Amino acid sequence: MEEIPKTNFSLKDVVSISDFKREDIEAVLNVAECMEKLPKERKSSLLKGKIVASLFFEPSTRTRLSFETAIQNLGAGVIGFADAKVSSVKKGETLSDTIRVVSGYADIIVMRHYIEGAARLASEVSSKPIINAGDGANQHPTQTLLDLYTIKKAFGKIDGLTIGLLGDLKYGRTVHSLAQALSLFDKIKLAFISPEELKMPEHIKEHIKGIKYEEFTELAAVLPELDVLYVTRIQRERFADPAEYEKVRGKYIVNKESLKGAKECLKIMHPLPRVNELSPELDQTKYALYFEQARNGVPVREALLYLLKDVRKW
Ligand code: NCD
Repeated sequence: MEEIPKTNFSLKDVVSISDFKREDIEAVLNVAECMEKLPKERKSSLLKGKIVASLFFEPSTRTRLSFETAIQNLGAGVIGFADAKVSSVKKGETLSDTIRVVSGYADIIVMRHYIEGAARLASEVSSKPIINAGDGANQHPTQTLLDLYTIKKAFGKIDGLTIGLLGDLKYGRTVHSLAQALSLFDKIKLAFISPEELKMPEHIKEHIKGIKYEEFTELAAVLPELDVLYVTRIQRERFADPAEYEKVRGKYIVNKESLKGAKECLKIMHPLPRVNELSPELDQTKYALYFEQARNGVPVREALLYLLKDVRKW
């Protein structure tokens, strides 16, 4: 019978990738791999009797639905909302009060919020683990874990790869978390490809300064070196000035033409949703990894829920 690996996973909350050590990441990836092999009946007993809250103050499709799938696969119950308009937030309740109350009902809280730092604040007032499912333009650690899982499955390793992050590196939380996580691996080279206005923030570059990275404004300048091209959408909703968005929208369109000169083994990833930056003509090519990436959200989130299921912070 398949054994779930024992790990030294050290976190009580999953708020930011900057809290992870490499061995925490490896713990999640190893348990996720096991989750894919466990028989359904065995899996459905792992969180039996537990309640997981799913609080989404911002829109979501993949993250919320893969979490809720993972929760149900593990046999837990789920409570929560997909739209804060139906919660007491509408009446003016503070986030701390909402979280304090929900932590009295649930064993784990998964939350997405539009304010940077909201998950950290929640983790300070919740006696139960908080899993950050995205906080504004800041962090999206669970997306990163499934991204790493996807890379490892495709290449058999993460060390030594050259990875291009393309698009909105300023407001895209997925690329902030991913760059930080990749900096924990060996011999990684990163290429940040973005318009001048949407470059990777200084604090992230400061955080990863131990690894090799370079910045580009054109994909063609670095494409032949890449093993992975991680494409992101321009985060329209985060622009204070719509005219600024208009200046950069449509700047990159990745299609068959723009991939001329790519390595045979190149894989294209995208956290989705896509707008126009990734052409559907690539969906049936050997490059496309993004739908598999979205599917991997389920075992990775199962692993996280499993690793946090018995944590009590005080
Ligand atoms: C991302 C997000 O919410 O940050 N989506 C996701 O979780 N898969 C990416 C995005 O919205 O562009």
